[in-house]
Amino acid sequence: MANQSIHTPNPDVEVLRSAQLTGDATADDIESIRKRTSVYVYEVPVRLWHWVNALAIMVLCITGWFIGSPPPSMQIAEATHQFVFGYIRFAHFAAGMILTFGFLGRFYWSFVGNHHARQLFRLPLLNKHWWSEIWFEVRWYLFLEREPKKYVGHNPLAQAAMFFFMTLGITFMIVTGFALYAEGAGQGSLPDTLFGWLIPLVGNSQTVHSLHHLGMWSIVIFVIIHIYVAIREDIMSRQSMVSTMISGHRTFKDDRPE
Ligand code: HEM
Ligand code: HEM
Repeated sequence: MANQSIHTPNPDVEVLRSAQLTGDATADDIESIRKRTSVYVYEVPVRLWHWVNALAIMVLCITGWFIGSPPPSMQIAEATHQFVFGYIRFAHFAAGMILTFGFLGRFYWSFVGNHHARQLFRLPLLNKHWWSEIWFEVRWYLFLEREPKKYVGHNPLAQAAMFFFMTLGITFMIVTGFALYAEGAGQGSLPDTLFGWLIPLVGNSQTVHSLHHLGMWSIVIFVIIHIYVAIREDIMSRQSMVSTMISGHRTFKDDRPE
């Protein structure tokens, strides 16, 4: 059927000669390429932040798990020559710093980046239509709607989930994490001056440990659902998903207006 594409009368097709080179592009294929355009949504800093943040959170969850449930001392060497738990805590604090500065950078980008970059920090709570779209997305995720809708940025349900579990969730982990860190850094240190007030406010250090620990589980639940939904929507929705967080471009699978 390759000949079909070569003799097609459509002038746009002339531009797509490389698509015909392998001989497996039909006229229909070429017409489809012409219609399915993409929108540049996630700029480089947003994509970079996404993957660095994901990596930092993985490290924080694994090392945080060990901090909360320390393994019995390991028989690698004489006790005085081991530093296993020190390395675990060091990895936690290093990833914690990366998470914190990355998040501040991402917040800054919400002011200077494109308008999609704002979605993570500003919810259109007074917009009635936004709320009805949330309900629609709940039904779509529950397989109660037949036809998904098109969104250029995050869909309203994803936006709300990202705001509560990530924007508020990361802020909560930073504040509680640095309050705990302040205990080690000592009175009068910068972490103590900035976050030391939390422990007396909450009551005691153990309560902050427990809240910080619970925060981890809410983030773990988000991540599991998030990865499931990203892959599910890549397959079932009318637009690209995972590759959008890699290349920045959202490609649409059809050219219907709604
Ligand atoms: C610890 C792991 C992860 C965390 C904490 C995380 C967090 C986030 C956050 C906060 C956003 C919003 C980005 C923004 O607006 O700046 C986002 C978007 C996104 N993430 Fe992740 N992510 C993780 C892993 C993954 C993985 C493994 C994938 C791919 C399978 C993925 C795919 C996506 C996609 C496709 C979007 C854009 C969704 C949309 O356009 O509505 N994420 N993620
Ligand atoms: C997604 C982010 C984070 C996760 C999932 C996480 C997870 C955890 C967990 C599960 C614990 C053990 C709590 C317990 O049961 O006692 C912990 C402890 C701790 N975390 Fe985090 N954390 C995060 C971010 C941070 C940040 C940003 C800091 C700031 C530097 C931080 C500093 C600490 C400190 C100081 C401890 C106590 C260490 C100790 O007692 O030895 N965490 N974290």
